[in-house]
Amino acid sequence: MFSYCVFNVLLLCAVSIFASKIVEGSQPILQKTIEALFTDRTNEMYPGPCKLIRASKRQNKICERDTGLANVLTIAKEQAIAACEETFQYDRWNCSLVFNRKAKRSIFNKLFRETAFVHALMAASITHSVAKACASGDLSSCSCPGNFGKNNTWKMAGCGDDFRHGKRLTKNFLDFKHAGNDQIAEILKQDVIVGVDSIGEQLKEVCKCHGFSGSCTTKTCWKRLGPFNSAMGLLKKHYHHAVKKKIMNYTTKRAITPKVRNRMKVERKNLLYLQKTPNLCVSTKGRVCKDRHNCATLCCGRGIITNKKTVTSRCRCKMVNCCFVQCDTCVEEVDQYTCK
Ligand SMILES: *[C@@H]1O[C@H](CO)[C@@H](O)[C@H](O)[C@H]1NC(C)=O
Ligand SMILES: *[C@@H]1O[C@H](CO)[C@@H](O)[C@H](O)[C@H]1NC(C)=O
Ligand SMILES: *[C@@H]1O[C@H](CO)[C@@H](O)[C@H](O)[C@H]1NC(C)=O
Repeated sequence: MFSYCVFNVLLLCAVSIFASKIVEGSQPILQKTIEALFTDRTNEMYPGPCKLIRASKRQNKICERDTGLANVLTIAKEQAIAACEETFQYDRWNCSLVFNRKAKRSIFNKLFRETAFVHALMAASITHSVAKACASGDLSSCSCPGNFGKNNTWKMAGCGDDFRHGKRLTKNFLDFKHAGNDQIAEILKQDVIVGVDSIGEQLKEVCKCHGFSGSCTTKTCWKRLGPFNSAMGLLKKHYHHAVKKKIMNYTTKRAITPKVRNRMKVERKNLLYLQKTPNLCVSTKGRVCKDRHNCATLCCGRGIITNKKTVTSRCRCKMVNCCFVQCDTCVEEVDQYTCK
């Protein structure tokens, strides 16, 4: 294997090692966690303190220390999957776990654009839910200034959505330190960072004035994040602009040189992946498009079937008795397009 790798097609070899590594289940925590979170779409709970995933010893310790974390992770998983399915509803890849409905073609077998995206998405979602949980007081490990837990006036002390804690906890929980010292680990770490930072970009400062009739003699300010969906636009942009890498310098251990690592640090802006996505056109038959324009890409030129669909909506709303809105229910026939 080794001599084959070194003297033949380096990239393919590296990728096949990566794939077999995943199949054997020996991949580092970072990969395992993201895969487990994204793949398990049930609400099954495990006995450990992390509840949601078969967590590592280290992760269970983290969950034990902060009892709110298990719930926060559940929220993170659910909001990530829901946002993904909604955002990619009309795309060739619709956030499914496998390509072309083939159970064996998991998006986690290799490092596809989609794999990179899912790593960023999950990391973004964990960061976001942790930050939000800090503001709502659901996590005890937050770094909010003020005397959290003793006095409910912490919000006035300037504690908002704690992005910094979200970032720190996400990296810690995904175990960056033990994610490996090779080029694939380095790529996945970058994908995670891109996800985390896309939450950081949503951070806004909001202030509240105090003083006589809004004179604003003093004001308190805190940081605020929008809903998770407001980061999806940016994350999807990253998905489209992801950069395909070749394994940069292949050695038996895929070790990363300090030089390569530094170069990657400088360009930590894009999602990175290694493997081209298979052609997904064979599986879009029967998919519903958003409109004719969307059908053109989604149906890969095979054409569409147009059906009439009835939609009901509230209409002819009016105010009655001063304060109540009363509406009729309207039934409308609209065209629905499905890929041939
Ligand atoms: C909470 O903080 C407020 C104002 O900072 C203070 O007046 C109050 O006594 C504090 N309460 C407790 C229980 O520490
Ligand atoms: C790849 O690694 C070899 C041996 O470690 C080294 O001699 C070579 O300069 C490296 N190439 C690049 C492009 O970094
Ligand atoms: C995605 O599309 C496939 C068909 O290609 C379909 O079987 C699957 O249910 C879809 N998944 C979602 C989440 O919409």
